[in-house]
Order: sequence, then structure tokens, then C-alpha cells
Amino acid sequence: MTDTTKHLLLVEDEAPLRQAVAHQLIDRGYRVEQADSGERAMALLAEFAFDVIVSDLRLPGMDGASLVQAAVDRYPEIIAIVITGYGTVKDAVDAIKRGAWDFVNKPFQIDELLHVLESAIEQRRLKSENAYLRAQLDQRYRFDGIVGKSRPMARLLQLVETIAGTNSTILITGETGTGKEVVARSIHHNSPRRMNRFVALNCSAIPETLLEAELFGHVRGAFTGASGNRQGRLEQAHKGTLFLDEVGTMSAALQMKLLRVLQEREFERVGDSNTIKVDVRVIAATNSDLTKLVAEGEFREDLFYRLNVIPVPLPPLRERKDDIPLLVRHLLDKLTAADDGAVGHAARADITVTQEAMRRLMAYNWPGNVRQLENAIERAVAFGAGRSQIDVGDLPPEIQEAKEPALSAAVSSGVLLPEDGMNLDMFIAGIERDLIQRSLERTGGNKGKAARLLNLKRTTLVEKLKRLSPPE
Ligand SMILES: Nc1ncnc2c1ncn2[C@@H]1O[C@H](COP(=O)(O)OP(=O)(O)OP(=O)(O)O)[C@@H](O)[C@H]1O
Ligand SMILES: [Mg+2]
Repeated sequence: MTDTTKHLLLVEDEAPLRQAVAHQLIDRGYRVEQADSGERAMALLAEFAFDVIVSDLRLPGMDGASLVQAAVDRYPEIIAIVITGYGTVKDAVDAIKRGAWDFVNKPFQIDELLHVLESAIEQRRLKSENAYLRAQLDQRYRFDGIVGKSRPMARLLQLVETIAGTNSTILITGETGTGKEVVARSIHHNSPRRMNRFVALNCSAIPETLLEAELFGHVRGAFTGASGNRQGRLEQAHKGTLFLDEVGTMSAALQMKLLRVLQEREFERVGDSNTIKVDVRVIAATNSDLTKLVAEGEFREDLFYRLNVIPVPLPPLRERKDDIPLLVRHLLDKLTAADDGAVGHAARADITVTQEAMRRLMAYNWPGNVRQLENAIERAVAFGAGRSQIDVGDLPPEIQEAKEPALSAAVSSGVLLPEDGMNLDMFIAGIERDLIQRSLERTGGNKGKAARLLNLKRTTLVEKLKRLSPPE
């Protein structure tokens, strides 16, 4: 069963009008909270995750347009409708620029408001549905922003596609920067829960004392500073997905409480005795080895099994180096999009990477994985300052120095053909030059010995050296 009840915040300072509208909305199946000022509305926004806000534009104190902007900033998915007075179309337009979906003019019939509301909700639904369909039609090797078509990634995408439709708890593991959050989001956006929220909570980013309240919410006076009631992330994720990042850092007490949520799907707000039931799908992620933490007694074994229903291990980038050219292209495109209309730069979509720079990128072992690659590319584009090619000199020093371990290793991992083709002669020449260089290094510059190492005549080596030496 899907719960389609919309939680609506109604902001209007004229009490009789507000109450009349609220009653009618409740009759039509909305769950309604009322506020008589922008300030009161802000307090309620901190407390609940609303689906819809309907606000008068003229309010005492904080005005409706600023309120709408604050609400949309906080919940980008919220639908905001404003109520305008006679002859204030300009204000309505301003509110729309600040994030409102639509407006109704005062005085209005309730049916008019309901019509605007229903069509906004329907359009929002279609919009998410279209985004979903578009994502499905996207290039085969892409699953909502997960780039990669190497063997390990193909396997991962297949797994993600299979499990997205289920309600099972998922544990994503992987080194830092391997894309744990990207994968979690994509699972949500490809699941039947995509119409509801994806709520992320990074367990290591919040002090232990606040984490519990953040997760479960609290009631007024539950602890010093708890000035009002507040919904926790669990409640906000109702019908949607809760992403618990860095779950390995949770305290023993909190682990216990989380276990109960996973077993019973119920909990209490901090300082409250009322039990709240939720329907959430939990996706947890960690870059620590939970089995080791379990063995060391740092992590509850029963919780580990509850979380690890479907394990999704993400491969480190060094184990899928043939994805690097594709990722580089994707990251360059992403930079272009972020930089649309910038002056002084050649269209970034045209930026390419030289063969040699790509070789270094593929030789490096990427301890920081895709995030590190992303940073390197962004830096290279900045260093390139408008040039249309990224070269070795634009890369961070440690990557400039990266060398392919050995030809045999390079060949056994498969020499790949970049998407936009390559210059075979240059590539082979590069390999020759590299090996001759290495054999000279090993023999202390003795050309005779170096030639023997490569099973060449000395004269051949000398001749190759002349031909291959890079133009200084
Ligand atoms: N397969 C991928 N395709 C495209 N972009 C990716 C991919 N994997 C990671 N990224 C990008 O790399 C960056 C890091 O990804 P993300 O934040 O998901 O990693 P993480 O595993 O959660 O890292 P951490 O453990 O440090 O939190 C993001 O900007 C993300 O967009
Ligand atoms: Mg992360």
C-alpha cells in the first residue's frame, strides 16, 4: 500500500480564512498544519518534512516570498503555492522566481486552490516519473550517474538493478570515494520509493550526543536546547529511503536502538514515550571493515547481519582502470554543465586529454578513487586555463610521476582502446621508449647490456633510441 496523504503547511494571518481553508483541505484528505506568520511557519518547517506549503504573500514580519524561498532551500522537492492579493501579480511572479510552483488570487474559491494544488502534485509526479523513464533509456552503461562499463562495474550495475525494486536492507562497502553515496541514491531513484524522500545521515559527521536526536527526533525539553518538537530523519524518510552513511562509527547504545528499528520498524522520539511506526528502506554504507569491528567487539553482530542483508561491495578504481577514460569524459562534461555560459573558457565539452596524460591517469593507483580523479580533472582544467587539451603538466605531481608497472601487467590487464580512438604508432612507440628507458636504467646506461635485456642488436637499440627520443 502506498500512502499518498500529503502533509501540507498552511500559512495565513487571517484566522477565519485560514481555518476555513484548513477544514476544507482536511476534508479532501490533506494532513494540515497551520501557521499565522512566517516565523511560526519556519519553526514548523524545522519540525516536519512537508510535501506542500501554501502561503499568503503578505504576512506580518517575514513575508511569504522569503518563506517560500527558505522552504524550497530546505526541501527542494516541496511544492509551494502562494496566495496573492488583488493587483499584486508582480509579487506572485517574484515568488515564482524564488521557487513557488504556482499562485492563486485572493479572493478565491476553495475549488480553485484545490485545482492548482492537484495539478501541481500531478505535474510533480509526472516529472519524477519522466526522470525515471529517461534514466532507464539512458546509455546502457549508465545507471543514473553511475559511470563505468568495466567487468566489475557491469556486475555492480546488474546487482543494483535487481535489488532496487526490493525493500531489503542494503550494506554498501567500499574505500573512500568509490561512489557509495552515488550508488545509494541511484538505488532509491530506481525503486518504487522514488516518489518519496531520500534522506541521508552521516553518522560520523554529527556529535554522538546529537546523533540520536537527529535520527529519532525529539520533543520539547528532551535535553538542553531542545526548544520544540522535531521530526528525526527516520520520520522524514517515511515511505522513502534512509541512507545511513559511515554506520561503523555508531555508539553501542545507538546500535542497539537502530537494531530495534530494523527489526520492528518502530521507535520513540528522544524524551517521548509515544511509539512511532515508520516504513523506511535502510541503505547503510561504510568504508571500515565491519566484520573486523564485529570481531573486535566494536560493532554488534546481530546489527551487522540485519544491515548486511544485501551486501554491495564497490570496487576500488585501481581494479577497474579501463573505466578511467569514460569517467574522465563524464567528469569533463560535468564541469561543462556546472560552468555553462562562463566566459574566457573554450567550451569545456571540447576539452580532450593527451595520450600521455591519459597514460599517467591510467598508471596511477588512485587511493582516493573517483573523488580523487574528479579533483585531479577539475584541477587540470583550471591549470589548462582555456586550452583545449589537458597535458601531463596539468596533472598533480604524484600522477605525473605514475608509471605503468610493467608491460606484461599492462597487457594482461588489457590495453584498452579509448572511446575516441587512438594513434597506434604513437602508443607502440611510447611502450618501446618506456622499455628501452627502463632497460638503460637497469644497466646503468650500458647500451650493449640494455640491448641484450630486450633481445635486440645493439645497433638496433641505438637506432631506435634516436628515432624514439622525445623532441626536447
Ligand atoms: N561510478 C561513478 N560514476 C560517476 N561518478 C562517480 C562514480 N563514483 C563516484 N563518483 C563521483 O565521485 C565522488 C565521490 O563519490 P561518493 O561521494 O559517492 O563516494 P563515497 O564512496 O561515498 O566516498 P566517502 O567514503 O569518502 O564518503 C562524487 O562526486 C561522485 O559523483
Ligand atoms: Mg560518502
